[in-house]
Amino acid sequence: MQLIKLDATDSTNDYLKSLAKSKYLDDFTVVTTKNQLKGKGQMGAKWYSEPGKNLTCSVLKKNLNIPIFDQFALNCCTSLAVYNTLKAISVPNLSIKWPNDILSGSQKICGILIENICSGGLVRTSIIGIGLNVNQQNFNNLQNASSLKMLLGKALDIGELLCHIVSNLEEAFKSWERNGYRYLLNHYENHLFRRDKPSTFKNSTDELFMGFITGVTKEGKLIVTLEDNVLREFDRKEIQLLY
Ligand code: BTN
Repeated sequence: MQLIKLDATDSTNDYLKSLAKSKYLDDFTVVTTKNQLKGKGQMGAKWYSEPGKNLTCSVLKKNLNIPIFDQFALNCCTSLAVYNTLKAISVPNLSIKWPNDILSGSQKICGILIENICSGGLVRTSIIGIGLNVNQQNFNNLQNASSLKMLLGKALDIGELLCHIVSNLEEAFKSWERNGYRYLLNHYENHLFRRDKPSTFKNSTDELFMGFITGVTKEGKLIVTLEDNVLREFDRKEIQLLY
């Protein structure tokens, strides 16, 4: 594994993206930093991480050539790689909150930001950003955040976790190649947070409604069963799960 360790950078995703444009990098090259100054989260949010306490890294996946409408497979591979890594160290009550937060109970311990470089209708390269809360113990006003140290009661080695995640990520890509996207999606769906449980959601106009998370389409839309057994598909901007 080609590993680039930085003392500080604005965002490991941005650093890796611009480095990949300027020089040859191996597949699965990893950039990690002790201090991420302007970490990026999903949907334009910011990702804060106490310096030296957590895993903040980005992994380069090259030579993909996957149709853009299948790009959610990358979320599945990454979520499953983190999930399996944390399962192996006995983190309790793990689940994947659509589209790709990793939770323990209802506490978020890992966020994933995937940025794809596309051309000709295909995803060619992917920058897979992972922020895993490892040894941080204070999340100020983030009510639903936790860390491995808070959950397991001991400090963990950030470098070891990184190696396990990258190795599980390579495995997930191989499994996708061998077994196909549907197989991957089934695994992802098996670990979905609040699957088949009555849940409250908010739509884009702030209206609340009830439904059951039923699955995820190949395009990455959330399938929710509404009243009278009506199935509806939602994309990221259309729905928020309240929990
Ligand atoms: C989210 O849940 O909102 C996604 C958070 C992703 C954070 C990681 S930390 C490493 C990588 N670099 C970034 O700027 N963001 C991702």
